[in-house]
Amino acid sequence: MKTISCIDLFCGVGGLTHGLHLEGVSVAAGIDLDPACKFPYESNNQAKFLNKDISKVKSKELIELFGDADIKVLAGCAPCQPFSTYAQRYADDDDSRWGLLYQFFRLVKGTEPDIVTMENVPTVVKHKVFKDFSKGLERLGYTVWFDVVDSSKYGVPQSRRRTVLLASKHGKLQLIPPIREKPKTVRQAIGRLRPLSAGEAYERDKLHVSATLSDTNLRRIRVSKPGGTWRDWPESLVAACHRVESGKTYAGVYGRMEWDKPAPTMTTQCFGFGNGRFGHPEQDRAISLREAAILQSFPRTYKFLSTGQPVNFKALGRLIGNAVPVDLGRAIGKSIKIHIKNIKAE
Ligand SMILES: C[S@@+](CC[C@H](N)C(=O)[O-])C[C@H]1O[C@@H](n2cnc3c(N)ncnc32)[C@H](O)[C@@H]1O
Repeated sequence: MKTISCIDLFCGVGGLTHGLHLEGVSVAAGIDLDPACKFPYESNNQAKFLNKDISKVKSKELIELFGDADIKVLAGCAPCQPFSTYAQRYADDDDSRWGLLYQFFRLVKGTEPDIVTMENVPTVVKHKVFKDFSKGLERLGYTVWFDVVDSSKYGVPQSRRRTVLLASKHGKLQLIPPIREKPKTVRQAIGRLRPLSAGEAYERDKLHVSATLSDTNLRRIRVSKPGGTWRDWPESLVAACHRVESGKTYAGVYGRMEWDKPAPTMTTQCFGFGNGRFGHPEQDRAISLREAAILQSFPRTYKFLSTGQPVNFKALGRLIGNAVPVDLGRAIGKSIKIHIKNIKAE
């Protein structure tokens, strides 16, 4: 049996790490700039968390972390904001985050792992930085595979399309074929959680807490239908910005999820009724942070808060919405394990 050691760059709270870990890909360490990741990352994974800026990390440090494992895996999900359609419209070309994929490449070059994996938004493939990354890997002797993947086909109860890249020095490594024909639904994922009202927190799970709603938003959610839009509301409840002609086209906010479909893509704002289709299918509130985490396929018991730590919706929403869904991480882990098994003795 070959030993594996993985380092997860931009590890966040550990969505990808946890998926890899569940499939037996041993993760030595995760690195992230955000210190808030430390508790969830270390409490749920047998890996250490290093609070560092990737652009300042030296290859030598990673080589030490890899140790003498037979197979070294470098994983990384550079922040996707600069690649989203919104950010493309508004970001400057010199947004420093654009450079983080080049930093990832610098560390690949300096450490020469056996396997590289990265995940990002679908549009990343159109950018020079992505082409530089994948061509650069080929020049270093990697066989590179990438595709835009529908996470719901891998057990994630959510429509979430992402680019996954897998590269290996030992021949072709590609993602396993979809494991589900029918996606997991919102009902299957969160249908049995304790009911809540808006603003209520469940005393047995601090993460199962929903944001408060203003009186107007409470009246709005009461008349919202699962899968419907604000167009179903009486005129008096429609927001002023939606009443003007230019606002009429965007119906994707203030919606309720549907029980028997996968959830919409979880974002960093997924705890707010006005931020997308994040209303609960039947309770008059937005989804709780725990529900958002479960829709990202984190286990029900994944710890996000240390004892006594207060709930900060904005910070936790960012950590949960930014994560790689655990089940997509599992699919990546399974693919890596199958590939390693097939590597001929060298
Ligand atoms: C898309 S998220 C990664 C999610 C993570 N892979 C998971 O599965 O939970 C991107 C992460 O990059 C981190 N980040 C942003 N700039 C960074 C930098 N310069 N160095 C290290 N981490 C950085 C953010 O704090 C964020 O947690």
